[in-house]
Formats: sequence, C-alpha cells, structure tokens
Amino acid sequence: MAAVSQLSYVVGTSSDVSGWKKYATEVLGLEVSRDSDDSLLYVRADDRHHRIGVRAGHEDDVAYVGWDVASKAALEAAAAQLDAAGVEVTAGTPEEAADRRVMEFVHFTCPYSGVRMELVLGHEKIFMPRFHPSRDLAGFNTGEMGMGHVVLYAADIAGAADFYSRVLGFGVSDFANIPKVGPFAVFLHCNTRHHSLAFMNIPGAQRRIQHVMFETVSIDDVGRSYDLCLDRGITSTSTGRHQNDHVFSFYFRNPSGWHFEYGWGPRMVDPETWTAENYDLSSGFAWGHDGLMKMV
Ligand SMILES: [Fe+2]
Repeated sequence: MAAVSQLSYVVGTSSDVSGWKKYATEVLGLEVSRDSDDSLLYVRADDRHHRIGVRAGHEDDVAYVGWDVASKAALEAAAAQLDAAGVEVTAGTPEEAADRRVMEFVHFTCPYSGVRMELVLGHEKIFMPRFHPSRDLAGFNTGEMGMGHVVLYAADIAGAADFYSRVLGFGVSDFANIPKVGPFAVFLHCNTRHHSLAFMNIPGAQRRIQHVMFETVSIDDVGRSYDLCLDRGITSTSTGRHQNDHVFSFYFRNPSGWHFEYGWGPRMVDPETWTAENYDLSSGFAWGHDGLMKMV
C-alpha cells in the first residue's frame, strides 16, 4: 500500500505573481483563495484551501509538491522508510506548516528530479463557502484521487520508478518504453487515479516540472478551455487521447512557461490488482496531442 494517499498541492515560484493571478481566474477558471497577497498566490480548485500555489521568486519553476498521508503513523512510517533508504528527511517548521495550511509535514528532496517533496498531514479543507469557478466550469474530479497529477523531469526513469515503488509504495501503472533503449517515462499511482506522479526523460529540459493535470467533470470544459487557449495563443498541443490513461485532453502554457493539462474521462486502476504495463510511443490507439513531443 502506498505511504501517501493522494497528491495534495503543487506550488511554484514565479517572477510574475500578478500575471498568475489573472491567468488563474481568466484561463484556469479557478478561484483565488483566502490569504493570498502580492508575494504568495493560493489557488483553489475544490474544497481544499489551495491546490496550486505561486510564490514570488526569480526562478519560474516548481518549488515543492505536497502529498497527503493518512495519519501520523503513516507520516512516521514514510519518514522512516526514506531514512532507511539514505534520504535526508526534515520536519517542516510550525511557520512552514501554517503557510502550507497543514497540521504538520516532513520534506525531502526527490533524488531523481531534485524537487522538494512534502508529506503532509491535515491539509486544510474549506467547506463553506464552496469552491466557485471563476468562469463557467462544472468543476474537477478530485476527492480521494487527489488534485490530479504532476509530471517532473528525471534522467533516470528506471531508478525513479524503483525508488517511489520500493520506498513510498507507489505502484507502476506503466512505462513508455523505447525498445533496445529503455524507459522514456514512468507513470505511478498511489490510489485509483492512473497516475498521480510521473517522470519523463527530456535531456536539456529548462525546468524540473513539465505539467500538472486537472480532471474536468465535463468533456465540454476541455473543449471550451481549448477554444479559450486557442484564442489567447497559449495552447501547447492540440486535443488528443492518451493511450495509457485513455484521457481526452490538451495542454496549455502558464505564465511560468510550464504547462497545464485539462483532461476528461481517464480510466482508473485498481492498485490491489494492477500489473505494470509497457507501451511503445509509436503504437496503440492514441490520437492527437500534436506538439506533445516538443513540449518542454
Ligand atoms: Fe498528463
């Protein structure tokens, strides 16, 4: 069983927090959450205090990624597993915990992507007022599957797969494999979402993060968001369907230069029975997503 239960938040740094605020409401259709200011933007997508955060900084990249753990015992067990694997684990300070809107957390640096990972207990929920999309969207499928997925860059895909499955109990959903070369990407699950975390090997990538996916409740919200991004000239790909998670989606650029994916209708996995799959990028039924292989 996975030590973490779901993806809780993704926070980046940006030189343009005010641009992000405009983008969050006008393009993402999300809601600026309480306690935001000019140096820290909290963005709400459901009943959590925030799912996306943007901190003022010089670098336009991911700052840290938060993962829910189910209990204090799970938090301690995960920290012990990391420690046993030779990974330094640090407790977050009370000030940092208040900033993340969690009760407590520990953090470590992902040995494969260099991204700070935070294992958190008690990420704040806001029951009322309810999440209110800033444009006409039906909302997002989150709940027990978490906010969506995050895809990071790593050079050693097999190593990352091994680390997250052995140390933190993720399951491998599949590898995108290049015959005679090796895996180009790995997709990992910690609940029934096909992947909450993935790593991709793109030599020369400018950032540590490639994209974050939100799953829309309605297929029309993928289409309408695509039209909106087309109008603004910020699409990164055309619409398409992925062969591993079967999602219908498209990608679009954010003010920091990395990407969001809005997707609808992915297949789920049963973590108890799933067997890792392997697919060749050039085969299968996938269509569309023109531009994906050039997206860095
Ligand atoms: Fe994705």
